[in-house]
Amino acid sequence: MEQKKLTVLDIKTRKGSDKKISMLTAYDYPWALLVDQAGIDIILVGDSLGMVVLGYKDTVSVTMNEMIHHVKAVTGVVKRSVVVGDMPFGSYNVSTEKAVENANRFMKEGKADCVKLEGGKSMVPVAAAIVKAGIPLQGHIGLTPQTASALGGFKVQGKSADAARTLIEDARALEDAGCFSLVLEAIPAPIAKMVTEAISIPTIGIGAGADCDGQVLVTHDMVGLFDRFTPKFVKQYVKISDTISSAIAEFKADVESGSFPEDQHSFTMKPEELRKMNGEL
Ligand code: KIV
Repeated sequence: MEQKKLTVLDIKTRKGSDKKISMLTAYDYPWALLVDQAGIDIILVGDSLGMVVLGYKDTVSVTMNEMIHHVKAVTGVVKRSVVVGDMPFGSYNVSTEKAVENANRFMKEGKADCVKLEGGKSMVPVAAAIVKAGIPLQGHIGLTPQTASALGGFKVQGKSADAARTLIEDARALEDAGCFSLVLEAIPAPIAKMVTEAISIPTIGIGAGADCDGQVLVTHDMVGLFDRFTPKFVKQYVKISDTISSAIAEFKADVESGSFPEDQHSFTMKPEELRKMNGEL
């Protein structure tokens, strides 16, 4: 059946609807296909790519070229989900001009539907310029992994009344700048509820409780394919690495014992050609 492609407007108008917005990451063809076919509303080609696929120690070293390479792999297969290109550290925090230029690359080269950047009020001039350039933008506040060292590590944000007020101001400022939705990461559930009620664009939570308009997880965390750590907010639905490891071990044993390949995996040829080869004809 032909799938109708969702747009950022479809996402924006889901604010307050009974059906919450689902969002997962994907970084390549097979995962994008699975996530899209499952009917997930938004696919984030996140800079978490650096950690869960490229094996970097953090997301800071991810480059624009790496992001574009993976966004292309995803947009080439997706039929329905909205695809978000995650702007990596250094691609939007240098100058507004550079930010718009890089956001354009996500759209022109990557064929993304929109982009995402991290940061609150200080990012408003950049956010407004990207939106003014006609590029739909998703904000990301709370724990912003790219600036985790400035935040004192991967810590829950907005835990004091002052910090929570700042989060609400950040959310309002990003909405005013034209963001179509906001990711809220690692903030207390009651504060995420307040942020969600304070703005008219959808909030998508990750470690932000049940009252957001949607939820996002890193797919590799959710399916048990990232072994370095699992944050408290992750629900691991399956540990697919165990299944993959036993398949690999079985293959190794089959190869070493000679029980793979079998006839069904091998090619034949015309018997007379073989007889010629054997010098019988
Ligand atoms: O890069 C990413 O995967 C993200 C999610 C954690 C929202 O930004």
